[in-house]
Amino acid sequence: MKALVLAGGSGTRLRPITHTSAKQLVPVANKPVLFYGLEATAAAGVREVGIVVGDTHAEIEAAVGDGSAFGLRVTYLRQEAPLGLAHAVRIAGDYLGRDDFVMYLGDNFIVDGINDLVARFARDRPAAQIMLTKVSDPGQFGVAELDLEGRVVGLEEKPARPRSDLALVGVYLFTAAIHDAVAEIRPSRRGELEITDAIQWLIDHGHRVESTLISGYWKDTGNVADMLEVNRLVLESQDARVEGRVDDASELIGRVVVERGAVVERSRIVGPVVVGTGAVISDSYVGPFTSIAADCVISDSEIEYSIVLPRASIAGVRRIEASLIGHDVEVTPAPATPRAHRLVLGDHSKVQISS
Ligand code: G1P
Repeated sequence: MKALVLAGGSGTRLRPITHTSAKQLVPVANKPVLFYGLEATAAAGVREVGIVVGDTHAEIEAAVGDGSAFGLRVTYLRQEAPLGLAHAVRIAGDYLGRDDFVMYLGDNFIVDGINDLVARFARDRPAAQIMLTKVSDPGQFGVAELDLEGRVVGLEEKPARPRSDLALVGVYLFTAAIHDAVAEIRPSRRGELEITDAIQWLIDHGHRVESTLISGYWKDTGNVADMLEVNRLVLESQDARVEGRVDDASELIGRVVVERGAVVERSRIVGPVVVGTGAVISDSYVGPFTSIAADCVISDSEIEYSIVLPRASIAGVRRIEASLIGHDVEVTPAPATPRAHRLVLGDHSKVQISS
């Protein structure tokens, strides 16, 4: 069994944060979302991985290399234009041969990995096995319609009027039957060869398509709240580890990871929190469910339940919450406007003035 990992795409549907970089490298708990997929693939016992890359190929190749860090043998397959997921299967035809394969979309995150799914597929070998999950915005996904017995009867890509709230998760298992399907289908309204249409073709031609319902799924649809939530889920499962330098005036509470080369001075960190390599936190408070990426500088500030991307600096700001801060961003306080308090205070008054 091989894996086909899709890490192309133009990124045009994405929020500003990923306009400057590959969406598959968006970090969750300081690790690119793509790495979780590669780790899950390796954990499921797959070794040969073809990664389909597009315009952002240099960035993806720099991050993943030959795959040996993941225990994988990676072959890069170039897709000249983002012509769809089924198009990616077409161009990977020679690489895949007649082997079964798992297709994993590099911007998808599945909390519990894919071991059970791969084992079930290896046992039953339907032409296609798909995963479905309930979402609040099905129009942004491929949507499945099931009959009363739970069989997939219809699939539709990004429907204007979704027939269910069951979205296709971006992990699919296929036998070589899929190659006939991708050869037959025509481009969709958005001009792409849709894998959704290829799976519908399998159903229409009497092939067996099976589905499983999962929870614990995330994909970047531009929703910051979802991203903070998946970051929280991943941080929840980490153990404390301090490899950087923490001075005596600082206090770390709970599951805090301080990576090698990071420095924490005169600060209080309440986990779960990860502080990336080379980051410097001084005179600050960092609260639960916060990921501070490599080489950030946080001074004299308070932040919690947030994601901060590499090399951002936050100085003199309190308090930041539920925020996503891009790489190389600088956050500073607005200059204080001159302002006077006019007071008439009785004898022995005690007042607290925030200034
Ligand atoms: C693709 C598929 C869609 C699926 C989604 C999951 O969408 O076409 O059916 O639900 O991945 O991530 P796209 O990433 O092209 O918007």
